[in-house]
Amino acid sequence: MADTTHVSDVLIIGSGAAGLTAALNLAEHHKVTVLAKGKLNEGSTAWAQGGIAAVLEPGDTFESHIEDTMIAGAGLNNRETVEMVVENAPVAIERLAKLGVPFNTDGNTLHLTREGGHSHRRIVHVDDATGWAVQEALLRAAHAHPNITLVPDQVVIDLATSRHEERYSGAGTVWGVYAYDKEAGHVRLFTARATVLATGGAGRTYLFSTAPRGATGDGIAMAWRAGCRISNMEMMQFHPTCLYNLEVKNFLITEAVRGEGGHLLLPPDAGDEAGYRFMPDVDARAELAPRDIVARAIDHEIKRLGLDYVHLDISHKGPEFVKHHFPTIHARLLDLGIDMTREPIPVVPAQHYTCGGVVVDRHGRTDLPNLYAAGEVTQSGLHGANRLASNSLLECFVFGEAAANHITANWGDFAPPPAIRPWDESRVADSDEEVVIKQNWTEIRRFMWNYVGIVRTTKRLERAAHRIKMLGDEIADYYGHFRVTPDLIELRNLHQAADLIVKSALHRHESRGLHYTLDYPETLDVAVDTVLVP
Ligand code: FAD
Ligand code: SIN
Repeated sequence: MADTTHVSDVLIIGSGAAGLTAALNLAEHHKVTVLAKGKLNEGSTAWAQGGIAAVLEPGDTFESHIEDTMIAGAGLNNRETVEMVVENAPVAIERLAKLGVPFNTDGNTLHLTREGGHSHRRIVHVDDATGWAVQEALLRAAHAHPNITLVPDQVVIDLATSRHEERYSGAGTVWGVYAYDKEAGHVRLFTARATVLATGGAGRTYLFSTAPRGATGDGIAMAWRAGCRISNMEMMQFHPTCLYNLEVKNFLITEAVRGEGGHLLLPPDAGDEAGYRFMPDVDARAELAPRDIVARAIDHEIKRLGLDYVHLDISHKGPEFVKHHFPTIHARLLDLGIDMTREPIPVVPAQHYTCGGVVVDRHGRTDLPNLYAAGEVTQSGLHGANRLASNSLLECFVFGEAAANHITANWGDFAPPPAIRPWDESRVADSDEEVVIKQNWTEIRRFMWNYVGIVRTTKRLERAAHRIKMLGDEIADYYGHFRVTPDLIELRNLHQAADLIVKSALHRHESRGLHYTLDYPETLDVAVDTVLVP
């Protein structure tokens, strides 16, 4: 038994945009501990390219940003949540600038780019590597704050709740987490009066995803196991333009390339149709239609013509323009032998964002006492059936702060944690089946891609459900008998997330936003969230 207990006022799981925003706001009043399962900058935040949406230009309005968000979200959004996030965006940008994020400017004003589904230029950015700059600035501020302790390499296994109290109170309260310390090789208990989940999404449930390796849905899975409702998991966003490359499978080509005039064309393998720009036939907004529409159109062309990819071409804008706007992508592609100033880029859709997640209210409160959540791990009502481009980082800033403010304002209600049982490994042995864990992981990602992708059918979803059930017994057996490892922890969560996605997809008997099924092609008159109750 390991008895290494770490106590703080507030515990935050995740060091991306949501977690660090919450930490910086809380640290003015409380001692905060932030855990990450690897290095502190390994979440999706550091990978964000396009930027952050905010109404900053004369002529643009909050109402327009709200409408664009609701249209992309196919009416499944919660309007009050959308209003809250959109109206707080300019202040969030101002705070980031004060933290030292070097946003691109045009004279005295911020340079704004454009992305799909936005009816105005409203994306603030740092070249084409906005997330990296944001992550650096937030980490710099967190490191400098005396009330914040950052602890990398802690793979949280589960929430510590009333069930783990030495003297069971039965209230379902969350008192912290159990985490596997990768350096020490054993499980530690972290307790706190309040806990904030900011663990990001579940993109790695799919074979092709733009998300980093750690996006295994850990927070969603552990919240579900602890008793939280999970909503809209069928709304998995596929980004239309991920680089097609047999070695590098997850390099995003930002939507801003289309925002700045890039065209989607059929490649030479399309025969007589090669070079044809197909998006204007699909939607009046052409390449700048919302992501679900563009991704489905590309998927359709790839299947119709038996292609491996389509082309994204911005070479007509000239080398100076391309290099100035997309220096990171240009350099990365040159390394791979593609010169985007002179030739088109081969692209395919890939999983990109988890619109569903842990149900939270506008203060970031979950269903469990003392547990909050913010960022991609949540279903806050902002994104509905399809997230509008560059609204995600924004959600992290607004909800990270909202959760922090609510905790601070209600601090008197948070009791100190009682005695919690330490992790017990006395009944388990070391696994000699690491290879099976890896195989299960790959199997899940492959059938999720094939059966639960951009276009679905009930039969394919049922096939996936069957595979999930069979793997579930195997994984529960490992988990019950072997000492936990980071791979086993992630596999258990990946499996749980896949199960929630498939159950949610089977539950929705219509096509809406990102959920498109050939068996129910119509959109029902009334938009209703899918809510799974543990
Ligand atoms: P993340 O930044 O993903 O952080 C998750 C944190 O949780 C990490 O620190 C991780 O270590 C920790 N964690 C997870 N599980 C555990 C565990 N079990 N134990 C301990 N710690 C754990 N959005 C935009 O708005 N604009 C963009 O331009 C944009 N571009 C994108 C480009 C790419 C390639 C990708 C993948 C996403 C992009 N997004 C963009 C989406 C956006 O980046 C993410 O939704 C957002 O950064 C999520 O932030 P987060 O704080 O919720 O989680
Ligand atoms: C991109 O740059 O295309 C990603 C933007 C986003 O995911 O919001």
